Amino acid sequence: MRSVGASPELLQYVIDHANPPADPVAHELAALTEQRFGALAGMNIGEDQGRFMAMLVGLIGARTVVEVGTFTGMSALWLARGLPAGGRLICFELRDTYLETAREAWRAAGVDDRIEVRIGRAADGLAALPDEPHVDLAFIDADKGGYRTYLDLLLPRLSPNGVILVDNVLWSGAVIDPTRTDDDTVAIRAFNEHVAGHPGLEAVILTVGDGLTLIRRR
Ligand SMILES: C[S@@+](CC[C@H](N)C(=O)[O-])C[C@H]1O[C@@H](n2cnc3c(N)ncnc32)[C@H](O)[C@@H]1O
Repeated sequence: MRSVGASPELLQYVIDHANPPADPVAHELAALTEQRFGALAGMNIGEDQGRFMAMLVGLIGARTVVEVGTFTGMSALWLARGLPAGGRLICFELRDTYLETAREAWRAAGVDDRIEVRIGRAADGLAALPDEPHVDLAFIDADKGGYRTYLDLLLPRLSPNGVILVDNVLWSGAVIDPTRTDDDTVAIRAFNEHVAGHPGLEAVILTVGDGLTLIRRR
């Protein structure tokens, strides 16, 4: 979990003042992820971002949600919680290594029946989705070099009022640090430029987590 917008203390305050109060399944999943996968646990989204995304799923009445990059299932847990009965979340993840941990949490939260995981390259999985508008909300959080491809594959499949969320777009602030020229930073900068200059999109970067872009079609 990264936060560009708040100090650890302020972030804790934000989490402590959410309603309903603290969630045991998300806490347990965060602890298990750290125990099993060490520093990779930093890839899980935080509780503040999770609550926001769950609320957004509910606010727009999403029934079909797609996630690109699932890891141990933290963001999927929150997205699935926002879905109504009968709604579904399709998760694309390269590796099956993390899925046992994810499924334990999804079962504990009672949302596993809404979640389908497709293992493999997300670009292949997205390309195999029906070629018509049916995705109400998508969350992109996989390899940074693939963001543009995922956006391009999702846009024609997005429902008329659909929304795309994109994670880590501020990359701990590296996007404005000229000394950072690594592949991920360069890819995120290029993605942000593309979205900002796209005439068919409306987009705003929120300083939630590590930077979260909210996109819809104009
Ligand atoms: C930042 S983590 C996702 C974190 C997750 N959304 C959460 O909040 O817990 C990125 C994930 O994307 C997966 N990934 C990387 N490249 C991928 C690809 N080409 N296709 C599908 N998944 C990929 C990685 O295996 C990793 O689990």
